[in-house]
Amino acid sequence: QKGGHKHFMIKEIFEQPKVISDCLAGRIDTNKCEVVLPEIAEMEPPERLHIIACGTSYHAGLWGKNLIEQWAKIPVDVEIASEFRYRDPILSKGSLALAISQSGETADTLAGIKLAKQKGLQILGLCNVVGSSVARESDYIMYTQAGPEISVASTKAMCSQLTALLLLALYWGRRKGTIDDETYNRAVKDLRNIPSILDAELPAMRSRAKELCREYSEASSFFYLGRGLCFPLALEGALKLKEISYIHAEGYAAGEMKHGPIALIDPNFPTFALALKDDLFPKVKSNLVEVQARGGEIIALTNPGVELDVEHRWILPEVWGPLNAFMALPALQLFAYETADYLGKDVDQPRNLAKSVTVE
Ligand code: F6R
Repeated sequence: QKGGHKHFMIKEIFEQPKVISDCLAGRIDTNKCEVVLPEIAEMEPPERLHIIACGTSYHAGLWGKNLIEQWAKIPVDVEIASEFRYRDPILSKGSLALAISQSGETADTLAGIKLAKQKGLQILGLCNVVGSSVARESDYIMYTQAGPEISVASTKAMCSQLTALLLLALYWGRRKGTIDDETYNRAVKDLRNIPSILDAELPAMRSRAKELCREYSEASSFFYLGRGLCFPLALEGALKLKEISYIHAEGYAAGEMKHGPIALIDPNFPTFALALKDDLFPKVKSNLVEVQARGGEIIALTNPGVELDVEHRWILPEVWGPLNAFMALPALQLFAYETADYLGKDVDQPRNLAKSVTVE
């Protein structure tokens, strides 16, 4: 059942290359190099998008917002479903609600869908479980096609959600004519190569995670820092660590550190940084210098050729632009997994958690 793996979580982390391929299947016309989304072909690109989700799915939504705004020029609000459902949100005609849920049974997300419907919005569901409540309540449904996710901590589902959100951003961007051809073609072409790159890379990533986790397994707290597209990944890295290893972790926008949290830094409070080679790298680097000045130790996910003087550089292969998320996400998951396993925690069934949260 676990395919020779010790836990479902590690099995599911290693399934991610296939998950990306499966999510792309039938959604890229390989002859024309075009994204085709038959599920939403009848729908006009929305004027505004309200993403509603919880937990890991919410983090995927935050990531997707960046690309949908950048490429499709659609303003996007991303809301935690349990907050959205008890507000009186202003939802204008022409807006679309996008409900993201692996299980399709999360009570708060379902309540958010109901509220959006009452206010006259159409619903697009992004779901993994076929025929789930979210799928049934949605006007349009896109399946993430990740296969059953057994481990309580969500891993491959997020990977598939990122893939689907990227496709949505490309698709709407193309339909609206807001994305330039060069970006579009590059994204479609390189996306198709990600599964084989990731597949080749995962074993080395796992070894690196094993090595590093031993050094930091005694830590009682961790910061996870990132900017831009890496900020939602920092949130997700922190969530994974806390839910399965029970080590306190906070995900922060790197630039927000100096507004308070940096007071916590000391030699026993390590930082896990996302310092990839992107436009924001110089900014992240200067935030990390501030951490070091307070005696904080740093593990940094980074790319070849990046100059960064920290305790531990974790070099990931460099891929194109936003596709770097498909390398960084498994690294974060593996670090959490190896830490929890090293500490002897019940990785697949963490305390106090259920796979799908069907009550408020
Ligand atoms: C974290 C995790 C949860 C879920 C959240 C939403 O690893 O699994 O945070 O992401 O409960 O669940 P879905 O996506 O099923 O609505």
